[in-house]
Amino acid sequence: MNILITGGAGFIGSHVVRRLVLNYPDYTIYNLDKLTYAGNLENLKDIQDAKNYNFIKGDICDKVLLQSIFDEHKITHVIHLAAESHVDRSITNPLAFIETNVVGTSNLLLAAKEAWQDNYHGKKFYHISTDEVYGSLGDSGFFYENTSYDPRSPYSASKASSDHLVRAFYHTYNLPVVISNCSNNYGPNHFPEKLIPLCINNILQGKELPIYGKGENVRDWLYVEDHAHAIDTILHDGKVGETYNIGGHNEWTNIDLIRLLCDQLDEKLSNEIGASQKLITFVKDRAGHDLRYAIDASKIDNELGWKPSVTFEEGLSKTIDWYLENKEWLENVTSGDYANYYSKMYE
Ligand code: NAD
Ligand code: DAU
Repeated sequence: MNILITGGAGFIGSHVVRRLVLNYPDYTIYNLDKLTYAGNLENLKDIQDAKNYNFIKGDICDKVLLQSIFDEHKITHVIHLAAESHVDRSITNPLAFIETNVVGTSNLLLAAKEAWQDNYHGKKFYHISTDEVYGSLGDSGFFYENTSYDPRSPYSASKASSDHLVRAFYHTYNLPVVISNCSNNYGPNHFPEKLIPLCINNILQGKELPIYGKGENVRDWLYVEDHAHAIDTILHDGKVGETYNIGGHNEWTNIDLIRLLCDQLDEKLSNEIGASQKLITFVKDRAGHDLRYAIDASKIDNELGWKPSVTFEEGLSKTIDWYLENKEWLENVTSGDYANYYSKMYE
């Protein structure tokens, strides 16, 4: 396989790149990433010199570049992760999401179609999507693969749009596509604009922990390496034309999650128990804040034999340890523009 991974310098992408580079020395991995604020080559320091790994700095909106990558490297598989991924940023700047998530994905689909010239034998275009396309649940129920789309933020609308385009290329041109829709990931290398790493960073800085609304919104959390394992499984065994939901069977209200995080951190830092919880501050709610996401992941379990392997307590503890051991990473990503973003969002 000659695999083009887009967005491989980001949070999930870097775990996918590492897994494939290390587990499949016979595959050649091309990581195409624009290195936006969310992309960071430090995430891949340990494998950057591997023989089967190549980094290409570039934009999925650049059609000429995409064409040349497919031609030059004889790409056989695509794992498409590159995206603008933060809901709050989509509320302040929706166009950036349409550009990368919709136009960029369309360019990539066209480049694959043209390069593969309808000879699809041994090819696969794997699109990574999110559970947010299904909308928001009430107190009960789950998202299934056939749940109707009901995106409610500019981010989820742009991802839904890209999913529709991927399916349209399958139905119209027979492009061999597969899609997965995953719940909230957490783990090492998560950019501290998202809830868990933002709160870890703020606790380390002695800053308030901003909880939107009453903290009652529910998310289903999955350890990022379990997601990378699911992606590996679908790359190899996922059926063309199919969609697979991926989730952690692990629902938490934001407030309960942050309390657990505070307690684990206090214990690791030998703080007085309850010290970090005092930083919790309820702030103005996110506009259009989806109440609850919950994934039914029985299809990927029954058909491909994947299930999450890391419990939440264990995953959260590993995540905190990583941030405590990688303070330089945290300092680097929070220098520069981050302070600007933080003060616009929260102050
Ligand atoms: P991220 O924001 O951490 O990383 C995105 C990466 O894409 C960055 O490296 C960035 O530089 C790159 N990128 C952005 N625009 C680009 C462009 N125009 N051209 C090339 N590269 C570009 O995102 P993430 O959290 O790792 O998410 C990766 C994918 O997984 C996204 O498609 C996201 O929608 C999806 N997803 C994320 C989660 C989650 O909880 N984080 C859950 C389900 C699905
Ligand atoms: O469900 C999958 C999605 O999960 C992915 O598609 C997105 O890319 C990813 O960012 C994530 O979206 P969320 O909006 O759920 O994640 P976030 O970490 O931004 O927020 C998690 C919850 O915490 C959500 O209910 C909003 C809340 N929150 C978030 C932040 C940043 C707060 O209460 N305070 C905060 O400061």
